[in-house]
Amino acid sequence: MSTPIADRRGPGPTAPLSPHDYEAAARDRLQKPVWDYIAGGSGDETTLRADRAAYGRYALRPRVLVDVDRCDTATTLLGSPVALPVAVAPMAYHRLVHPDGELATVRAAGETGALTVTSTFASTTLEDTAAAATGPLWLQLYVLRRREVTEALVRRAEAAGYRALVVTVDTPRMARRERDLRNGFGLPPHIVPSNLDGARAQGLHNGQEGVSLLARHAAAHHDASFTWQDLAWLRSLTRLPLVLKGVLTAEDARRAADHGVEGLIVSTHGGRQLDGVVPALEALPEVVAAVPEHCEVLVDGGVRRGTDVLKALALGARAVLVGRPVLWGLAVDGAPGAARVLSLLHDELEEAMALSGRPRLDLIDRDLLRPHPTFVPPTDRDTTPR
Ligand code: FNR
Repeated sequence: MSTPIADRRGPGPTAPLSPHDYEAAARDRLQKPVWDYIAGGSGDETTLRADRAAYGRYALRPRVLVDVDRCDTATTLLGSPVALPVAVAPMAYHRLVHPDGELATVRAAGETGALTVTSTFASTTLEDTAAAATGPLWLQLYVLRRREVTEALVRRAEAAGYRALVVTVDTPRMARRERDLRNGFGLPPHIVPSNLDGARAQGLHNGQEGVSLLARHAAAHHDASFTWQDLAWLRSLTRLPLVLKGVLTAEDARRAADHGVEGLIVSTHGGRQLDGVVPALEALPEVVAAVPEHCEVLVDGGVRRGTDVLKALALGARAVLVGRPVLWGLAVDGAPGAARVLSLLHDELEEAMALSGRPRLDLIDRDLLRPHPTFVPPTDRDTTPR
């Protein structure tokens, strides 16, 4: 059997051995307001905890005496080949945690063979990010009030070689995130939303207690009147595949498929939008059941282990996305740190496939799961206030 990728990269005996280790190291390294912005959720952070806890509600039913000498984690996402069914979730402002920001993240993803979804609110331009990337890229879109700004982003994504557009539909406005309000969170002066210009790039600096400048900015610029009719407009703009991120019900999944959407991401936005919603993993089966086979369904929120990936795939996901763990790796060690987090998830998934008797992704099905007889909450250090 080949040496696992993460072992080949490991710098020594004190190296972080799991995404959780990267979390602890990142937390020591980052300033509190930045840590809180990344780690936090909305309201009581119920959904933040529930997304993670949902993985503890399933027990695995492994099969034995299966030839698992070689386990293959490779797949395709909307036609793009990837080495593993784990993609980087769109997250704003990677330069908050490392000066190389998104450029380091896409290098890390490319090295691991993972797909990256770049945020509208990236801290490097989508063109620079594409130039640094060696793996497939999708662009996440927030639909802004000025439609010509959204249209310009679509054209730039097409020209730069992005392979799909991910429209985030759970954020007509930004939910109250009390950690950010308490910290008066704003961006440091050297970080800007590089994909935007003029007035739309302003108003994010010089924070003051009791105000989240990011939420204020979203209130000013996100188009909260965007509906299914407007999705038809977006559809007519481009031939790039469309993926909706933030769908949690069969009703909306069906409607999305009727609108010709090629993919869905079942997501609670990492517990950062409507608090108290169904955990993404629990919503996954009804969404998968509601859409035709060719519509690819992904899930994110709380994926921290290879066995979590296995469970999501068993419930019908084509792939998962990981958010915070990538930023932890980036904060600790730039591109090599982010690459190691992704490599660890790859190697853990490969191990879980071997130990559960599922050497190929298409063998991972519902028979692998049953309700956990004794619910043990999964490790979760995210939510411990500092
Ligand atoms: C996000 N997320 C997000 N989503 C999106 O569509 N556009 C964005 O710009 C951002 N920005 C963002 C910033 C930060 C710091 C975080 C933590 C998250 C949500 C993200 O794509 C994803 O849904 C969750 O992060 C997944 O949960 P985990 O893996 O972080 O638990």
